[in-house]
Amino acid sequence: MSDPDPDQAPGPRHVAIIMDGNGRWAARRGLPRAVGHREGVQALKRTIQSAPKLGVRCLTVFGFSTENWNRSAEEVSDLMGLVRAYVGSDLARLKREGVKVRILGRREGLPPDIADIVARTERETAGNEQFRLQVAFNYGGRADIVDAARKLAASGEAIDEDAFGRALSTGDGPPVDLIVRTSGETRLSNFLLWEAAYAEFVFQDVLWPDYGEAHLAEAVNAFRSRDRRYGGRPAVPA
Ligand code: IPE
Ligand code: IPE
Ligand code: MG
Repeated sequence: MSDPDPDQAPGPRHVAIIMDGNGRWAARRGLPRAVGHREGVQALKRTIQSAPKLGVRCLTVFGFSTENWNRSAEEVSDLMGLVRAYVGSDLARLKREGVKVRILGRREGLPPDIADIVARTERETAGNEQFRLQVAFNYGGRADIVDAARKLAASGEAIDEDAFGRALSTGDGPPVDLIVRTSGETRLSNFLLWEAAYAEFVFQDVLWPDYGEAHLAEAVNAFRSRDRRYGGRPAVPA
């Protein structure tokens, strides 16, 4: 990837995306939801390729929520099948392109072969530093906060905001700058609850399977026009 020097890029460095709208994309075409999910994987591949060109160094995507187990057994199994297929076809490329993959979310409850794929993907990309891809899978923001609290309680470590942030599954990555949701919905659906505290939000009216570089560029440009105040005074006084 021949990309801008990430340290010179104006940001956002870390973009998190709620990839929503696969089902509606399929329904509009009279196709099964599974086709929407399959096309969603293509959109994910496009987005991973586009992100570094825009100066993004870390991409977090919401792939499967703790609440998505409430979908039909068939749809859950389709989504698991896509993980197998995606890692099977793309792990070598991710390794080659220097992508470090981290899976956010509970390992317990995953089908054993998916848990193995997750562990292998993390292990085989652990040394990469070009780009970081975090996939929230069997992830819920509340569950992650509870797990962090349990971890800290068990360790006896003093609890402050820094320690808590580090104990979350995103704890060893960069702070989240921008949260994007596609499909026109304007809710978090239990994504990155703690990390969202001072993130910027962009809601885009595009169904996830249609997402591409132009949409990501639009979200990044919207971010760049924002004035992040963190509770302080505006950069340009009114
Ligand atoms: C997002 O698309 C993918 C997952 C949640 C796994 P949806 O499947 O939620 O699509 P809609 O919201 O029904 O259109
Ligand atoms: C959030 O989308 C989860 C993912 C994108 C993986 P949902 O489609 O599950 O969220 P709700 O049900 O509309 O809130
Ligand atoms: Mg949805």
